[in-house]
Amino acid sequence: MRIDVLTLFPSMFVPFIEESIIGRAIKSKKVEIYIHNIRDYSLDPHHKVDDYGFGGGDGMILMPDPIYRAVDALRKEDTKIILLTPQGKTFKQEIAYNLSGEKHLLFICGHYEGFDERIRGLADIELSIGDYVLTGGELPSMIIMDSIIRLLKGVIKDGSYTNDSFQENLLDYPVYTKPRNYRGMEVPEVLFSGHHENIKKWRYEQQIERTKARRPDLLEKR
Ligand code: ADE
Repeated sequence: MRIDVLTLFPSMFVPFIEESIIGRAIKSKKVEIYIHNIRDYSLDPHHKVDDYGFGGGDGMILMPDPIYRAVDALRKEDTKIILLTPQGKTFKQEIAYNLSGEKHLLFICGHYEGFDERIRGLADIELSIGDYVLTGGELPSMIIMDSIIRLLKGVIKDGSYTNDSFQENLLDYPVYTKPRNYRGMEVPEVLFSGHHENIKKWRYEQQIERTKARRPDLLEKR
């Protein structure tokens, strides 16, 4: 998979693409990520990318031309263009699964007070990470990329996401490691039974109980 990102703040992405699982996924060529500064696509001598909004109002608005020029340069036949905005569809695990099957994603990160409405015309999908407003699309794009990249083949151990929370609209079951007794808190006995069927059953019951207690809305979708 190839991912391109349009942003006014490329340096925000440095630790994201260098560290941990995403850093390793890039080094082992499971994914290519290219971060582009929107200013580089401005024809203005001072690389201006925003201006005052028509009709008045506070704040600067991202102009369409640098974004359209960047998209012209980067879009291929099979590119999916994703615009980050609090007005978008709420991002969910199911969308991560669908997008993980794409060849090329192009993220457009808005910033400041907003972007010119005509920029929306470029997007195949507008995504929001939740009902709150951030200063820009940079963090949302990283969150979405992270959730997609970990689903790509070979990025994390095969099968380690088969019990992910939200898989089949259930939260994940609890897991434990050493020590067996920590400050009086015991690991459930069944996990030492060596009885795989019982462990499997216990885990499934835990998933149901947890989901009922914490996210009954998910159970309704099942
Ligand atoms: N930009 C600002 N807030 C956002 C949000 N909640 N989701 C996506 N993009 C955003």
